[in-house]
Amino acid sequence: MEDASSDKFVQNDPKIYVPSSTEEARRLINQSVMRRFALREKARLDGHMRFLQANNTDHPFERSHYSDVRAFFDEASKDYDSDLENPYWAFAHEILKFILEKFVAEHFHTVQDIRLFDAGAGTGNWSKFVLGLNEHISGTLFDMNSSMLGVAYSKVAQLHGNLIKIIEGNLEVLSDLPPHRSNLILCMHNVIGLGRNTDLILQNLCSYLEDDGLAFIMATNKYHAFNFAHQFRGEVEALRVVSDGTVKFKSDMPEMFCYTPEEFKETLIRVGFIEVTVLGFPVTVYPSPQDTKLLRKDTFDQRLKDLSARSALLDLEKRICLYPELAYRAGSSLIAICKKSGMT
Ligand SMILES: C[S@@+](CC[C@H](N)C(=O)[O-])C[C@H]1O[C@@H](n2cnc3c(N)ncnc32)[C@H](O)[C@@H]1O
Repeated sequence: MEDASSDKFVQNDPKIYVPSSTEEARRLINQSVMRRFALREKARLDGHMRFLQANNTDHPFERSHYSDVRAFFDEASKDYDSDLENPYWAFAHEILKFILEKFVAEHFHTVQDIRLFDAGAGTGNWSKFVLGLNEHISGTLFDMNSSMLGVAYSKVAQLHGNLIKIIEGNLEVLSDLPPHRSNLILCMHNVIGLGRNTDLILQNLCSYLEDDGLAFIMATNKYHAFNFAHQFRGEVEALRVVSDGTVKFKSDMPEMFCYTPEEFKETLIRVGFIEVTVLGFPVTVYPSPQDTKLLRKDTFDQRLKDLSARSALLDLEKRICLYPELAYRAGSSLIAICKKSGMT
């Protein structure tokens, strides 16, 4: 039996549905309603995207260059870490930490020698987190932007136990990567989205990963990109998502490649990964444009303001972020957990 809340998935204007309370989100999950209705919600979004694409064929979208990406992060490096205080991003980061910690612990439980390569390390937050899990993990932080790496340097310098290198280079150029391969690769948030030749970067990361290693590779969720652009950025920007496969969340940033969970998995298999699981998060919280602003310290989502509601929601997210079939509802981020052999 479907309950009344399931009606909310059946809407004339296809968009990602946001439960209004933690209680409602929990009820949907417990009754498996969300999983069933997620199929319908996704089908409606797919239908809407296909319709837009089929009816608008002549929109060539200009592509940015690496000089634009560099210039953007020279400026963004100044405020980049303010996302740690933004309630929406801070919540998303907690889910991401849970995913990293869980899969690293499971994969490396008998391995002492963990060598991390952080591809597009930026300001080093994710290296810092993973290196902090165990002082025997060594790490290389790699990025093409010296301003971002400058911020990273001060953070990882405080980790006294771990062996750390910082390298400036382009992930498209295999010879820029250090000679010895790694058994743990991080490629967090919008690195491949901002890379200009994403397939080449992914091929390089796959060949750089040791055969028994583990890679976490993130991308922007195309359903979120479409939903957000359609609601807040206008028809042309929604069209960019469906016809160019890129998104501009703000007009002053380079466009980023985005993927459905299925496209992301196919791409990763095509470049050589054997076992790929794509997850997405957050599933029950959806950001407003204001919520995603880096310097914002407030949120419109009351559940993120109330400590006990937030903690209940986080517990719920930690369970449902592990369902790949809900990844399409991710507020922004997809994360692929990739292996080169299906044996481990
Ligand atoms: C959105 S930031 C993400 C930083 C970090 N991974 C994180 O999650 O906080 C994207 C980073 O990717 C870097 N980047 C983009 N394309 C790159 C490439 N081809 N080679 C190396 N770094 C690249 C940018 O310079 C920037 O620091």
